[in-house]
Amino acid sequence: MKKASIILILVTICIGLLQFIGPEEPEYQPVNDLTGIPQEVNAIIRSSCFDCHSTQTELRWYDKLTPANYIVSNHIAKGREALDFSTWDSLAPADQNTKLYYSLNKILQGEMPLFSYTAIHPNAKLSTDDIMTLKNFLITRTPRKPIDSIQIHESNQQFSDFVDGKMALSKQSVQPAPNGIDYIPDYRNWKVISISDRFDNGTMRIIYGNDIAVKAIQNHATNPWPDGAIFAKTAWKQQANADGSITAGSFVQVEFMIKDTHKYAATNDWGWARWRGTDLKPYGGKALFTAECIACHQPMKNNDYVFTKPLYLKDYQQKTNKK
Ligand code: HEC
Ligand code: HEC
Repeated sequence: MKKASIILILVTICIGLLQFIGPEEPEYQPVNDLTGIPQEVNAIIRSSCFDCHSTQTELRWYDKLTPANYIVSNHIAKGREALDFSTWDSLAPADQNTKLYYSLNKILQGEMPLFSYTAIHPNAKLSTDDIMTLKNFLITRTPRKPIDSIQIHESNQQFSDFVDGKMALSKQSVQPAPNGIDYIPDYRNWKVISISDRFDNGTMRIIYGNDIAVKAIQNHATNPWPDGAIFAKTAWKQQANADGSITAGSFVQVEFMIKDTHKYAATNDWGWARWRGTDLKPYGGKALFTAECIACHQPMKNNDYVFTKPLYLKDYQQKTNKK
């Protein structure tokens, strides 16, 4: 007993002494509301993101205690480096849209705000309403102008050529990607595993999986994905019709991720390739273009670099989260 109380006193003294050391406090500079953004959206970003993503960091007393303050300053330094809302006004509107789109994506993926932060700052958690507010606002940033009947006819023609397989069907008629990967015309017959929509540049995407990928989904063996699994992602411009509906407009690109732990060990076990436009021009000047793909897929490292969560996975995750 005695021993225990001595240890307790010693620990208390140590923690007390520790308070004399600590990291330098981060620079503090108040930040104006983001221009061009409605009040309610500003309020959400301010209360959930500013602490780490702007120079207006409001440190609470418990954030300043050693050793917690070392973790806090590390988050702030890294957070500001990744995204700094203090520089908002210096960004071009298109870049602003991209930042907002990424932000929404990070929120939807459950990565932001950091869990370790919301655990201590519960007010920073985003409600379902907050997320809807962000989404609805992002849609208004890329107004969808109705297009004329000639354009509609053209894109309908493109879509039916695509469905009929008239669009650059054979491997022979399409050049391989700069890293040597061949075009895979068969993907149009694969199963659709997800559909997504990018607000900031007005495209809709369809994601297909080959048989091996689909089987892995059925067997719940998707992390890591098995060798031979392939994803194809097609992007189409969103076409706003006069009646207000949105349909697939002109074809933008198709890209692939091919899992092979031996062949593609140098590029994180995936072969990456993209073809653009209806003439399916290989994308990328040299083989190094894959660095760009990998950099953007990097946040999904713990998910074998794959963003898409097949529908059952979402369902499954919700169930396990509730437990
Ligand atoms: C506790 C600190 C903290 C909070 C709060 C926080 N973030 Fe982050 N954020 C980080 C850190 C650290 C990184 C960089 C490292 C990483 O990607 O995990 C980051 C990275 C990001 C990135 C990636 C930027 C890039 O180019 O890779 C985005 C986007 C982002 N955060 C958005 C948000 C949004 C939106 C919010 C508010 C809803 C938010 N974050 C709240 C700490 C935070
Ligand atoms: C700007 C970021 C970014 C870059 C760069 C990027 N991707 Fe992606 N990729 C995504 C996101 C986000 C998704 C999730 C689906 C969606 O929202 O469209 C995705 C999904 C995919 C998918 C479907 C499987 C999955 O992970 O969900 C494939 C295939 C794919 N990307 C291939 C590529 C290839 C090949 C390149 C490089 C030529 C590339 N990507 C570059 C962001 C990026």
